[in-house]
Amino acid sequence: MKPAVLVTAGPTRERIDPIRFISNYSTGSFGYAIAAEAKRRECRVVLVSGPTHLEAPRGVKRVMVESALDMKQAVEREFKRCGIVIMAAAVSDWRARKAAGKKIKRGASVKTLELVENPDILAGLGKRKGGKVIVGFALETDSLAKNALGKLRKKNLDMIVANTVTRKKGAFGSGRTSVVMFDKFNGKNAYNNRTKRELAKIILDKALALNIGYGIC
Ligand code: CTP
Repeated sequence: MKPAVLVTAGPTRERIDPIRFISNYSTGSFGYAIAAEAKRRECRVVLVSGPTHLEAPRGVKRVMVESALDMKQAVEREFKRCGIVIMAAAVSDWRARKAAGKKIKRGASVKTLELVENPDILAGLGKRKGGKVIVGFALETDSLAKNALGKLRKKNLDMIVANTVTRKKGAFGSGRTSVVMFDKFNGKNAYNNRTKRELAKIILDKALALNIGYGIC
């Protein structure tokens, strides 16, 4: 039997007031490509998505969320029913301590925004992974291997897909990208200038192979 696959994608939005939010440049395209590829392989797929204009891949159950806390709740609800988790979302690490109920007006006394840290969704899943395969992503501006391997171990992952963000080119939205994949068996593979669809196939091949390794497929 094929394992059910849970994919997260897109940014999260952390509300400041009813008009404004904290977010990032993620478009969700990588996560959506992975969800579409998992569906092509006839897996049951749940896609937990932050705000994006992308259409849900056909046959995929999509759950739209806004903030990191919403994403955590949706992911934890689906976690027990899946064999593979691929956490491609760019989750905001902080949220405003208190979102204003009304628009903050120009000239208001608020000149600084107090932030609190969001929970690390992936690390939470890693703590109770059991026989599931968990794949994380890492976005780095520097020390790619060191930082990605640190996250692989700290979050108890099977694999991490690491991507460099450059100030000039960024990492989000472009059709092609370069990544390095590290797995918990010290495997390392670099893929240069590939389409996200090509990379989605490689990620699924690896995740499904790791899933067979656990003997729960
Ligand atoms: N992630 C998560 N919850 C968060 C932040 C990140 O689940 N609050 C997940 C991302 O979806 C990704 C992985 O953790 O799969 C790494 O995210 P990244 O932003 O690269 O790293 P952080 O763990 O946030 O660490 P830092 O920002 O310090 O690099």
